[in-house]
Amino acid sequence: MKNPLIHTKKLTKIFKNGEYSLVALNEIDLIVDKGEIVAFTGTSGSGKTTLMHLLGCLDLPTSGEFFLDSEEITNCSQKQLAFIRNQKIGFVFQNFHLLNDLNAIENVVLPQLYGGISEKEAVARAIELLTLVGLEHRLYHYPSQLSGGQKQRMAIARALAMNPPLLLADEPTGNLDSENATKIIDLFFEINQSNQTTIILVTHEPGIAKRAHRCVHIHDGQIASDTSTLSRLN
Ligand SMILES: Nc1ncnc2c1ncn2[C@@H]1O[C@H](COP(=O)(O)OP(=O)(O)OP(=O)(O)O)[C@@H](O)[C@H]1O
Ligand SMILES: [Mg+2]
Repeated sequence: MKNPLIHTKKLTKIFKNGEYSLVALNEIDLIVDKGEIVAFTGTSGSGKTTLMHLLGCLDLPTSGEFFLDSEEITNCSQKQLAFIRNQKIGFVFQNFHLLNDLNAIENVVLPQLYGGISEKEAVARAIELLTLVGLEHRLYHYPSQLSGGQKQRMAIARALAMNPPLLLADEPTGNLDSENATKIIDLFFEINQSNQTTIILVTHEPGIAKRAHRCVHIHDGQIASDTSTLSRLN
């Protein structure tokens, strides 16, 4: 019997604003096993980011259940959610979301300090991760001094700072040219291979979705299709 990292049951998110309510996610049942690379696809407004926010413990569902590594998330307090995010989840966003006043090392050190790691250890790990993503020559650069591809590699190093079992990336290559996009996806595969990190990425690009182990297509807040691909054999 496999041990899923993610298990959702009838996960539903309704945004309410006065009279108006919008069903962004409608009873999503999803199981993601440890070590999988899953692509989420779907048209704009279909609910991909909303689902990523729930899986990333950035938001709670209106109804339904969500188990992360067998732990029930739905009833957690904000403080517990922040702890789970720090320990278990790395995020990569389309717009990088780096801290512009901090250099590369400091950006990767910060989540580790929140996680209770000593500064000396955190700096050593930051250098190791920035080297892994090919930024060993940009350790003291600030985000504004880096190219888009370099910023995204810095964001990936930061996302990996706490060695999370789950990496969530919402359109991580949306602001990159195709050459840099390919390099970022290659990097995700390397991370998946070396650490068994489970990776979920949102993409609008069919070429990227095809490279994932599995493609989950979302339509109107529901899973419209869930397809395994053959790239596992590569
Ligand atoms: N905070 C919010 N309040 C109200 N409605 C929201 C909120 N966030 C998202 N929505 C609505 O929920 C639906 C799903 O939005 P979501 O951002 O998940 O789409 P998406 O699939 O990520 O789209 P895109 O590809 O454009 O990023 C949309 O109709 C959106 O307008
Ligand atoms: Mg989105």
